[in-house]
Amino acid sequence: MSVEFEAKKSVITPEGVFIIGTYDENGVPNAMNAAWGGQSDYSEITLFLGKHKTTENIEKTGAFTVAFGTVDTLRISDYFGVETGSKVNKIERAGCHVHKSAHVNAPIIEEYPLTLECKCRKWDPETGILVGEIVSMQADESILTDGKVDQGKLKPIIFDAANLTYRAVGDVVGKAFGDGMALK
Ligand SMILES: Cc1cc2nc3c(=O)[nH]c(=O)nc-3n(C[C@H](O)[C@H](O)[C@H](O)COP(=O)(O)O)c2cc1C
Repeated sequence: MSVEFEAKKSVITPEGVFIIGTYDENGVPNAMNAAWGGQSDYSEITLFLGKHKTTENIEKTGAFTVAFGTVDTLRISDYFGVETGSKVNKIERAGCHVHKSAHVNAPIIEEYPLTLECKCRKWDPETGILVGEIVSMQADESILTDGKVDQGKLKPIIFDAANLTYRAVGDVVGKAFGDGMALK
């Protein structure tokens, strides 16, 4: 028997822990946590945002980075979602180190091992839809195996909106474009 929930309580899982890095007009770095979003084309990410210091920054610089929250960066990742850069320098408060991306006018937060560098392709304050063209990606050597990002080493986290918790991504359980082939 199924239990019905009101639409607002519906669960879309998994949701990511995307850490959006931006600079303001004075080059002060900021970071925010966003769960709503994902890959929308090759080399493209789409995020769904309210109005934040982050979106003000993107309106000025036309660029942002997206790092992936991990088990090792969980605490700072959550902090980036519960404080606004309008009031506090969150990067300093979190004890993070940044350098400017070589490709876009946005900060790379060095504590995160995997970061996308994005040019703003579209930002619509009415719908809150932010589309980024991924122009490059930086991955720390420590999370690579045979030159590929190894999720087991990255240890990404996902956001569980039903329980307001973060969960670690688990084991490999199958082969994509593979395990279904037997039924084709
Ligand atoms: C787990 C989590 C997920 C969040 N997801 C989103 C999101 O998808 N979109 C959004 O606009 N805000 C989201 N937020 C809220 C922003 O991160 C928060 O308002 C933050 O303070 C904005 O930072 P800023 O003002 O420095 O830009 C989320 C917060 C948390 C803790």
